[in-house]
Amino acid sequence: MGYLMESHLFNDGEIVIQASNLSVSRGNTIVLDNINLTIRQGDFVGLVGPNGSGKTTLLMAILGLLNTITGKVEILGQDSANMAHNGRVAWVSQAASNLPKNIRITVRELISLGVLNAKTMLPFMKRRQDIRKKVDNALSLVGLENVADVDISRLSGGQRQRAVIGRALVTNAEILVFDEPLVGIDRDSRNSLLKLLDDLCHIQKKTLLMVSHDIAAIRQSAHRVIYLDLIQLNDCCRGGIQYDGPPADFPDLLSLATLRGIRNVHSPEPIIISLKDGTEQSKIVANDSLREEE
Ligand SMILES: Nc1ncnc2c1ncn2[C@@H]1O[C@H](COP(=O)(O)OP(=O)(O)O)[C@@H](O)[C@H]1O
Ligand SMILES: [Mg+2]
Repeated sequence: MGYLMESHLFNDGEIVIQASNLSVSRGNTIVLDNINLTIRQGDFVGLVGPNGSGKTTLLMAILGLLNTITGKVEILGQDSANMAHNGRVAWVSQAASNLPKNIRITVRELISLGVLNAKTMLPFMKRRQDIRKKVDNALSLVGLENVADVDISRLSGGQRQRAVIGRALVTNAEILVFDEPLVGIDRDSRNSLLKLLDDLCHIQKKTLLMVSHDIAAIRQSAHRVIYLDLIQLNDCCRGGIQYDGPPADFPDLLSLATLRGIRNVHSPEPIIISLKDGTEQSKIVANDSLREEE
């Protein structure tokens, strides 16, 4: 396809996630076909792609939660199917902030629950004091100190999203796996959250794998973009990575439309365009169905 790059050259940190020859089906469809992926410590990887392209499936397969047809994933040097990464990876699932409205729990209490997933438990006497410090730190990282003792049901969508991210941060996990964490967040919160995530990667050397439908936000913040899609190739449908590289080289909308085989419904004649890597030319161009979201 011409868009795969040597991603391991971006960063010379230790390999923390390695997927080899990974194929996964959901129902009767092969959603991920022969995925090879190396993620190193300190990477901020943005995973994008249309609905149903397999983003959540890839996260779940990496975490060892799904049966694979072929291949395997190693997290921190261990087969992820063995769950040895428990406590070292924090996952914020899609819609994690849709917390039940009838449960009364404050922001501080919600974030404290993350401590239960932390790898190291301290000796009993120090524990409460230490937990309080960790939770205060997470509250301040996600900018929720002012509402620490407010019930989560009274928060805005963006604040609730930051609270579930705070719960993930308090675990001290080395790898953060976030599925659509930007949904429902207003622009200012989104920008401060992305800055925080970037700092966590640069300063604390956390590794972040983040799914988002917000291509513009990923382009502005991630160090590396992975684009997943199901592509029709001759008679077969291949689900997998169609681009893996720096945000600056991510194909523009016209090239993406070409890659996905989307034809322009308004233009009677096909247009010839060049793809960014300069190696391919293709007919047809964009259409309104492939919009970059704000
Ligand atoms: N539990 C499931 N059973 C059967 N098919 C599923 C299941 N979950 C997801 N799928 C299908 O797998 C494909 C990829 O889904 P998903 O990974 O959720 O995509 P994304 O996160 O990119 O929207 C879709 O076609 C979806 O309908
Ligand atoms: Mg999903």
